[in-house]
Amino acid sequence: MNRPIVELVGSGRAVPEKVLTNADLERMVDTSDQWIRDRTGIRERRIASDDETLARMAQCACTQVLEDAQVDVLEIDSIIFGTASPDRLLPSQACDLQAALGADNAAAFDVTAACSGFLYGLAVAEGLVAAGTATNVLVVGGDRLSRITDYTDRATCILFGDGVGATLVRPARNGDRGILSTYIKTDGRLGELLWRPGGGAIHPPSEEMLADHSYFLRMAGREVFKHAVRSMADACDHALIQAGLTTNDVDVLIPHQANLRIIESLTKHAGIPLEKTYINIDRYGNTSAASIPIALDECVREGRIKPGSNILMVAFGGGLTWAATMVRW
Ligand code: UT7
Repeated sequence: MNRPIVELVGSGRAVPEKVLTNADLERMVDTSDQWIRDRTGIRERRIASDDETLARMAQCACTQVLEDAQVDVLEIDSIIFGTASPDRLLPSQACDLQAALGADNAAAFDVTAACSGFLYGLAVAEGLVAAGTATNVLVVGGDRLSRITDYTDRATCILFGDGVGATLVRPARNGDRGILSTYIKTDGRLGELLWRPGGGAIHPPSEEMLADHSYFLRMAGREVFKHAVRSMADACDHALIQAGLTTNDVDVLIPHQANLRIIESLTKHAGIPLEKTYINIDRYGNTSAASIPIALDECVREGRIKPGSNILMVAFGGGLTWAATMVRW
């Protein structure tokens, strides 16, 4: 297959107003600012208010994308929303976004791959365009994990924040600019390392669930940490080989922002200098599927990514899922 088939055009992001600092968390659970900064690199995260729904934040991010790309909303023919914390389970988050945008000509659906949702979404978008099914695809990564986080569990509640990021995928028309390679992987046997035991059809909502907190996210942090480093380094290798590039060709590495120590370890394993790596976990914490598109948008608006820049994006999340996408911007 000759790549690039598709290019990414435009970017956008939206994060909630409210800042939850480590000092705030010190008043909620038995933790300390020092521990959180040392073990995760996080200083603060954003938490959505009742009004800041995922649909509203996504509408804001997508409006920026459409402006950047100079595309009318009626030209959008597909919307793919990577999320694990939709505003409601039915209809999908993408359907609510389609209505909010007035994207009347778009088919809309969600991709559930936890923190890898945005890169999985890009892979699906490339497939739709390659098959001739779609031309202008909005790909969104967004999560509002604060709604499914247990704020009595210090091992998880210090990590997560809310937000949304987005871009547009369309047929490549700028020579060698676009998606150069895609690598996506899953290991469902490890699903219970990072999961929500309750709330689905096996354990529908019940009083017991409220009492035992099984409605919330649970994570075996140390185990997930090890898998994250190994899997993301491996995904980077595969994406580079597939694109016929080496680590020297990477201008910007955008890793999923789960933990600063994971990012540092990843850069060592993947052989990509930390100076080439974009890090904003200190300001947002782990925003799940939003972390990569938020970082992408910040890089573009700060001028760190320019036309022709080689960007390696790499994700890891519940599932377990992981992915890497090499893009020439
Ligand atoms: O986005 C999807 C993927 N997610 C990730 O990749 C997250 C991966 N995991 C991590 O980032 C880290 O494992 C955590 C940040 C969750 C935890 O850091 P850790 O260095 O792996 O800590 P740990 O779980 O090994 O716990 C070390 C100690 C324990 O105490 P003892 O048993 O040594 O006495 C914990 O109880 O730290 C304690 N601890 C805390 N102490 C203060 C755990 N959470 C906290 C806390 N404040 N918030």
